[in-house]
Amino acid sequence: MNYQNKKNDFKNTKLETKMVRGGVLRSNFGETSEAIFMNSGFCYNSAEIAESRFDGSDPGFVYSRYVNPTLKMLEERLCLLENAEACCVMASGMSAVFASIMSQIKAGDHFIASRVLFGSCHYIATKILPNYGIDVTLVDGTDPQQWQKAFKKNTKVVFIETPANPTTEIIDISLVADLCKKNNACLIVDNIFASPYSQQPFDFGADIIVYSTTKHLDGHGRTLGGAVLGKENFIKEILLPFHRHTGPALSPFNAWVILKSLESFLLRIERHTDNAHKTAEFLANHKKVKKILYPFLNNHPQYHLAKKQMKNGGAMIAFEVEGSKADCFKFMNKLKLIDISNNLGDSKTLLTHPSSTTHSNINPEERVSLGITENLCRLSVGIENVEDLIADLEQALK
Ligand SMILES: Cc1ncc(COP(=O)(O)O)c(C=O)c1O
Repeated sequence: MNYQNKKNDFKNTKLETKMVRGGVLRSNFGETSEAIFMNSGFCYNSAEIAESRFDGSDPGFVYSRYVNPTLKMLEERLCLLENAEACCVMASGMSAVFASIMSQIKAGDHFIASRVLFGSCHYIATKILPNYGIDVTLVDGTDPQQWQKAFKKNTKVVFIETPANPTTEIIDISLVADLCKKNNACLIVDNIFASPYSQQPFDFGADIIVYSTTKHLDGHGRTLGGAVLGKENFIKEILLPFHRHTGPALSPFNAWVILKSLESFLLRIERHTDNAHKTAEFLANHKKVKKILYPFLNNHPQYHLAKKQMKNGGAMIAFEVEGSKADCFKFMNKLKLIDISNNLGDSKTLLTHPSSTTHSNINPEERVSLGITENLCRLSVGIENVEDLIADLEQALK
């Protein structure tokens, strides 16, 4: 490979600098901005070189289903963001979740997950894994005793979302990580709700972090993408063979969009979280709001735990409006600025009604027992002016 990286000495710089300069592979043309390598395959100057690429003795590129220079730049930058040894980017957050689990579990193994999960994660845990002969236990993620009891001799993988989608339930990562270490199980943390700005699960003993880069990392609602971060031996020996041969490859174009978004990620996410905290305070004091769940408000059930493992409350809020589902829909339909959407992590503030959309695949009784009631709203707070957001919520709540 012949890249011009000599001037890109960012290794001892701060995170803001790393997000702008880290991972750059500059071609012989000397382009300032990273290039999009929109190619599927690579050519070799000889049959011997082709052979050496495939036996791994030459580290050059082989095929974009494996990795290509644009994907590689994104992987390197994400490693810097999480202080991770290795990363593999994928086509979506769900492919990252699925591959991180399936690459290391087999029929007869045991899998544990916290029970409040994004609808598709819940589907994998309760429908797909049992179909493949995997024994599944769901626990109340906030109950240490349930965690202690859940482990079995054959527990292989543990999956948690914290804060969980949609209720912002917080799980003690250190507690679950210690139990995983004792029981030789792998802890995967879906850190999507928190984002890397609010929480760094590796600091608390997580083995693997998964992201939907679709959310705050892209941050403009443009691309689908996912990432798995972890130790080099896990990514190289276990995840990559699964990923390469099953094919959930990220498009180089999407990789490039996400890579460029990381340059402004720290600037954007600070505004997201500041706005969210102020919006949560407003909602907490509104008489039409029955319940509010925001990790850094002191009425959150796991407020002290949130303070221990998160740097700020994040950009996601859950709240119940007074009244029925019809009252809730009425409130949503009155919003003039905030959009109704099932997505999150956009610069635009988005409001979701989880029980009829993102979590509609969970049966109604179970949904209610998880706190996903018919008047629960999930708010992904954007980067608009917070006074405008609050004014919109206020007029709609009236
Ligand atoms: C907690 C969580 N995990 C995984 C995903 C899946 O991400 P994607 O839509 O990029 O597949 C989402 C999407 O909303 C999510 O909220």
